[in-house]
Amino acid sequence: MTDADLLHESAHAARLRRHIAARIAAAGGWLPFDEYMQCALYEPGLGYYSAGARKLGAAGDFTTAPEMSVLFGRCLARHCAAVLEATGDGDVFELGAGSGRLAFDVLMAMQAMGCPPWRYLILEVSADLRERQQALLATLPGDLAARVSWVDEPPREPWRGALLANEVLDALPVECFVWRDGVLFERGVGVAQDGGSIDGRFIWSERPAPDSLRAEVERLGADAGTPWPQEDYASELCRRAGPWIGAVTSTMEQGVALFIDYGLPRREYYHPQRSGGTLRCHYRQRAHDDPFARPGMEDITAWVDFTRVAEAADEAGLEVLGFCTQAALLLGLGIESEVAAAGDERTRMQRAGEARRLMMPEEMGESFKAIALGRGCDAPLAGFLLQDLRGRL
Ligand SMILES: C[S@@+](CC[C@H](N)C(=O)[O-])C[C@H]1O[C@@H](n2cnc3c(N)ncnc32)[C@H](O)[C@@H]1O
Repeated sequence: MTDADLLHESAHAARLRRHIAARIAAAGGWLPFDEYMQCALYEPGLGYYSAGARKLGAAGDFTTAPEMSVLFGRCLARHCAAVLEATGDGDVFELGAGSGRLAFDVLMAMQAMGCPPWRYLILEVSADLRERQQALLATLPGDLAARVSWVDEPPREPWRGALLANEVLDALPVECFVWRDGVLFERGVGVAQDGGSIDGRFIWSERPAPDSLRAEVERLGADAGTPWPQEDYASELCRRAGPWIGAVTSTMEQGVALFIDYGLPRREYYHPQRSGGTLRCHYRQRAHDDPFARPGMEDITAWVDFTRVAEAADEAGLEVLGFCTQAALLLGLGIESEVAAAGDERTRMQRAGEARRLMMPEEMGESFKAIALGRGCDAPLAGFLLQDLRGRL
């Protein structure tokens, strides 16, 4: 990073800090964490995803599966092709498309299979990322680029086909709670005071949990099957996920929605030993757990409670067609044959290394899970044939 970049970064961070501090003051000195996370990530022109930080890829803050290897998109293309065959043609609808890499690889592979989607729709909240996606996808060959379009909301008219969302659920703002001495508190954000004068740093600040949060945490505890540890047990929950899943799938009249993310079934997510929760921040390929370190300059995420995703499916009239690890998904979708198909030995070796990173338990293979939610679609889903973890949801 040059000195000019650093100056720009700190000026940008200072603007967002002032904005959040004003929000906290206007709210009486305390902001729920999900509202803070919404501002830090998505405040127009200022938030991490809304503004110009590099974000994805080796030169950015974190690396997602499509950034790591073309194999990921090629495998998902096989999944989409099977869904489109079952729905009799149709569209691919991607949520939160990042740099556009997954869209590029899926479209190229579907074209090579002779079954490009009718349309490839992208819903992206970040204006900055949308521009990057447009620049990359304009370089697609033939008529593929013309099949891509961006939407500001889920299609209003009924559509059929495949919905894809890789690492989007983990970017939805979460509410945070903590048990102390048997009392449940909501964790929010305040501003540090230094000898009576405000020193400007954001800090965790707790207040007794309101009734609706308490009821929800009690429900989660009952589901998790063991009583909540009542002392210094902190975690989070994403009540926005259910309505969001309902909204993005509402007009999918026939098809399969595939969500891939790091996460766990509820019993494991809220395990008594996971007493620090799963909130993580990503800055230049380093992970840490202080969401106030660099607001606007780094990603803030939380693991996904996949039981909540299954509940949302139920509510939206979708069927959970499969739930498995990323490793099982990619193996089922033929990642090994994609590696073997590499044109020369050097590429084959490189692809084999990438496949390992995507599938090794200590890399992305186990912590990342895939869940398929279907409506009116009996496509054979090869990605879910090798492993069925639905009983753990
Ligand atoms: C962690 S990145 C993942 C990007 C990409 N899917 C990948 O795998 O490389 C999260 C993406 O979701 C987008 N996003 C966050 N909230 C969203 C929402 N409510 N609707 C659509 N996109 C969203 C972000 O702007 C970003 O593109």
